[in-house]
Amino acid sequence: MLIAGNWKMNTDLTGARQLAASVVSAVGTPGAGVDVAVCPPYVSLDAVFTVLHGSAVRLGAQDLHEADSGAFTGAVSAAMLRSVGCHYVIVGHSERRQYFGETDASVGAKVLQARRNRLVPIVCVGETLEERDAGREREVVERQTVAALRDVRLESAADLVIAYEPVWAIGTGRTATPEQAGAMHAFVRTLLRDRFGPESAPGIRILYGGSMKAENAAELLAQPDVDGGLIGGAALKADSFAAIVRAAEAANR
Ligand code: PGA
Repeated sequence: MLIAGNWKMNTDLTGARQLAASVVSAVGTPGAGVDVAVCPPYVSLDAVFTVLHGSAVRLGAQDLHEADSGAFTGAVSAAMLRSVGCHYVIVGHSERRQYFGETDASVGAKVLQARRNRLVPIVCVGETLEERDAGREREVVERQTVAALRDVRLESAADLVIAYEPVWAIGTGRTATPEQAGAMHAFVRTLLRDRFGPESAPGIRILYGGSMKAENAAELLAQPDVDGGLIGGAALKADSFAAIVRAAEAANR
């Protein structure tokens, strides 16, 4: 299990330090097999790393640029993320696809760049409401997953995380039912099996994201192919985030 908090464009430096400290104390030492991460805004990564130091909570970033370095004003490279202590990086979040012109091709390039720099990409896939209503959710998720993973080579299943995030459930308070999430996660697992083979596929974590909170985490995490959560709104309060970590521990037993 992995429970990762995506803080999005929330918290200034002071707020990020405070939230990180509260998360560290609320989460404590997670049970065996449960990993925890927070993904603050870029400007707070360094400070949050200092707060997380010595705790069980790992650091992640929300995006990266696909180039090593150069004239890309405003962008942040994988090496920079490594240098401030990142372990994970979110790639292809639906908000990046929707508001920043992220494409399947750029997501694929970023995933490769993350791996080249020994960051673990949390690759986001998921259909819009329109696509689901048209019965196209599998087609869309397959296209996104295949494009994102096309050239990736894994040394271990722990090198890659997928997050299935139905766009209609993100920040809307509307969660996928456990059955909907379970069916899509099982489908993503078959895609991973096709791509990486039957040895690696079972160990690759597939997170659910989209209005996961303390109240619904247990039933979502109980689904066989749901290996954790990517948490937005509920990650901004240490208590609700820690409650999801507790649900992951219970589901893992
Ligand atoms: P949410 O966001 O939990 O606020 O729906 C999830 C995400 O976007 O990763």
